[in-house]
Amino acid sequence: MTQDELKTLVGQAALHYVDAGSIVGVGTGSTVNKFIDALATMKDRIAGAVSSSAASTERLQALGIKVFDASEVDELAVYIDGADEIDHAGYMIKGGGAALTREKIVAAQSRKFVCIADQSKYVATLGCYPLPVEVIPMAAKRVAQQFLALGGTATLRIKDGAPLVTDNGQYLLDVTGLKITDPLAFESQVNQWPGVVTVGVFAFQKAHVCLLGTEDGVKTLVF
Ligand code: A5P
Repeated sequence: MTQDELKTLVGQAALHYVDAGSIVGVGTGSTVNKFIDALATMKDRIAGAVSSSAASTERLQALGIKVFDASEVDELAVYIDGADEIDHAGYMIKGGGAALTREKIVAAQSRKFVCIADQSKYVATLGCYPLPVEVIPMAAKRVAQQFLALGGTATLRIKDGAPLVTDNGQYLLDVTGLKITDPLAFESQVNQWPGVVTVGVFAFQKAHVCLLGTEDGVKTLVF
């Protein structure tokens, strides 16, 4: 199976976690796009979605799924999202699609995080994938220096020749060269740095379940 087919498989499998009549937390990315397409087949049986990005909102609405603002909803039963890396404990790196801050907010609002990923995302230790960090622009240089002190190299994400601006009006750094052996401690540490909006380690908002697309079908990992 191709990576795209594995994404379709896990996107469809995630429907199992969607309760009739509920509002669903929806992440961002190419795997989630497969989930959104699958969700459209049961759009008349759900109340709607809370979305983690402008891109997902646009796709949900185009398929006729009502999108609620996060502040209109108290708690969500489930949040479904992809990952750039996920480890044996359900800790993740996320933000390759630049939506990490809203993803973390909606994940925090949800009782259960179901990660959907193809097998290439499953890793022993987080850190091979460049770690996305959303920062307030005036802090970008200083935060990059702080990563340097930890042995990481931070690069400002560029789009169309200019710094990429997130849905929240901020910049993104991508940090290479880190081995994140204690994700909870690492997330706590980087969150303290002035100007960091969100670090793309999801340890406090880790996955409870991962639907992993493999050559042998969908494996369900429970953390
Ligand atoms: C979006 O900001 C990310 O957190 C995505 O969830 C992550 O990058 C996975 O995306 P793909 O499903 O496109 O690999």
